[in-house]
Amino acid sequence: MDLLTTTMESAGGTLHPAASPAADVFQKCRDFTRAREIMASGLYPYFTEITSAQETEVMIDRRKILMLGSNSYLGLTCHPHIKKAAAAALEKYGSGCAGSRFLNGTLDIHRKLEERLAHFFRKEAALVFSTGFQTNLGVLSALVSKNDQVLIDRLDHASIIDGTRLSFGKVKKFVHNDMEDLRRTLSHSHDCGKLIVVDGVFSMEGDIARLPEIISLGREFGARVLVDDAHAVGVLGKTGRGTAEHFGLEKEIDLIMVTFSKSLASIGGCVAGSEDVIHFLKHHSRALIFSASLPPASVAAVMAALDIIEREPERRRRLWKITHMMKDGFNRLGFDTGRSETPIIPLFIGDMEKAFLMRKMLFDDGIFVNPVVPPAVPPDPALLRPSFMATHTDEHLDYALKTFAKVGKKIGII
Ligand SMILES: Cc1ncc(COP(=O)(O)O)c(C=O)c1O
Repeated sequence: MDLLTTTMESAGGTLHPAASPAADVFQKCRDFTRAREIMASGLYPYFTEITSAQETEVMIDRRKILMLGSNSYLGLTCHPHIKKAAAAALEKYGSGCAGSRFLNGTLDIHRKLEERLAHFFRKEAALVFSTGFQTNLGVLSALVSKNDQVLIDRLDHASIIDGTRLSFGKVKKFVHNDMEDLRRTLSHSHDCGKLIVVDGVFSMEGDIARLPEIISLGREFGARVLVDDAHAVGVLGKTGRGTAEHFGLEKEIDLIMVTFSKSLASIGGCVAGSEDVIHFLKHHSRALIFSASLPPASVAAVMAALDIIEREPERRRRLWKITHMMKDGFNRLGFDTGRSETPIIPLFIGDMEKAFLMRKMLFDDGIFVNPVVPPAVPPDPALLRPSFMATHTDEHLDYALKTFAKVGKKIGII
């Protein structure tokens, strides 16, 4: 069942007397009762208010809760070096840029960050956007034009799907990480510009894109490749440079997109590639040109997070130790963790109600975990998506396994 689109009988409400229900654009809002029903049942899991920093333990309703739902994989949001850098930028440049990069909103630190990111990703140039979501919208809508085709994995992130919807090119989807299907899709494409777009690490299932095959198919069929490394930077690769580094393919990949809202402890996004592509995007990407630029403190935080990624490789090592330990632990308990290969370890639960119930029982026992239901994943099975941080302690992890075992047994998942 799709929480966001399921509608029930009209719940009533005021209509302009002359309008038929179908003629009122707000009718769908009155018809949408599903979320209110879940709220009434006490199982509603969204918009939970946290009154502390995004760390391994957070405060909710004056209770200390173990956070297993964060994308802060390296645990950097409260790192003193990063907080200090952000505070210094706030002091020097103020709180915002009051304009777009294109006009009055480019600071020297935007430029410095772009140079740093280009170097980090071993590309000629990089371009910083105000969110990761906007980066995908801005890049795809500008690059994929009327006579082009864009080929996307069925489990690609929503921002990629929406970016392709804003483009004028033809969109083709292939079966998740299925190289035979990608080959079939490419071979049915006519002679035109082609772009393959994949998540490096898939955000819900935690598996890794089959980049060596994707790049080789791209070459065979004359398609460019863009990897969204939102969940891979800081996590994958010998030095945390992401999926391309993990496979030793940094030179082969055409474009890398990354968000700053996960391992990089900030907000914003960037695309890195050849100078001519970045130059084109600077002059054609509407999400860049018509939106205000990234605030100074957020820019400085990213720069400082890159310092830490380079200086403290032990964080990545700890994250991987935790990842292996938790995946083994969940599997030993009898949970189905699907294809996960990364710190995102989904647990396949069954229907949506069961996933919400399990989330609630875990929360009552002091654990925060995100339920993932359609449309973020295809209809059934719904899943819980524990994700891990380098800063989780062994005590946190022991408690998590014990509690998941207790709750999983109670509701009959294991
Ligand atoms: C794979 C992927 N790409 C892009 C985004 C969008 O990034 P942001 O939330 O920083 O705008 C996300 C966010 O969840 C993501 O998981």
